[in-house]
Amino acid sequence: MSISSLVSQQIPVSNVDDADQHGRCLTINVLRFNPQLSGDQPRMHSYQLRETQGMTLFIALNEIRETQEPSLLFDFVCRAGICGSCAMVINGRPGLACRTLTASFDHPVITLLPLPGFELIGDLSVNTGKFMRALSAQVESWIHAEPASQPGIDQIEAKMEPELAEQIYELDRCIECGCCVSACGTKLMREDFIGAVGLIKVARFRLDSRDQRRDADWYDIIGDDQGIFGCMSLLGCEDVCPKELPHQTQIAFMRRKMIAAS
Ligand code: SF4
Ligand code: SF4
Ligand code: FES
Repeated sequence: MSISSLVSQQIPVSNVDDADQHGRCLTINVLRFNPQLSGDQPRMHSYQLRETQGMTLFIALNEIRETQEPSLLFDFVCRAGICGSCAMVINGRPGLACRTLTASFDHPVITLLPLPGFELIGDLSVNTGKFMRALSAQVESWIHAEPASQPGIDQIEAKMEPELAEQIYELDRCIECGCCVSACGTKLMREDFIGAVGLIKVARFRLDSRDQRRDADWYDIIGDDQGIFGCMSLLGCEDVCPKELPHQTQIAFMRRKMIAAS
């Protein structure tokens, strides 16, 4: 069923008296569907609420849940753009609800959909954790070091150049929100594609001087169409990444390295 046909099923919104209020009257359209409920069907619901100063979509959704729709499903933990839980499609673009001000939209009608490409839990809640755990196992996103170089309680911590530590930190800022996965045409067409989040993880561990894996090892993991050679370089991932990770640079760099390793 297309989104446009779902929108056409919106419940008529109630009138809100503007006379003695200050903020705009917002209309939040939300895709409602709980696959756990037998017979439930995807449909759009419209909710109206008064915009307040500094209101984020996270605040708006909480107000809706508290005052209008207790069964509304969506995720959040940190409310500060750190945990990645509140990602959803906001007016057609993946983003974080807790970092999106309602005032950033000129038009007071905002449409929210769950992130595509992930298992739907219900309404705006998707299971990114299941995807990220499988990805972590696939790329083995932990330091691969020889046993002798493993840290011990009686050993001095291994030194690392501050510049290298800074570069690793830059790539380690991924919050696993899933926005890049939902924005990736390849990922949506090809279930087994590693996605930008997987490629940035590989770039991070490849950079780490403590990790013993070499490019031949990385080639075994990402040297095919499921990995770096499946990427179409359209960079939807970089456009939507809330942490502004350097996908373009890293994808181009690793593609060159993997060609050399082939
Ligand atoms: S550049 Fe590659 S990883 Fe990023 S959105 Fe496009 S196909 Fe996906
Ligand atoms: S790379 Fe960016 S968009 Fe993708 S999961 Fe990490 S923080 Fe989110
Ligand atoms: S609630 Fe944690 S990133 Fe939005």
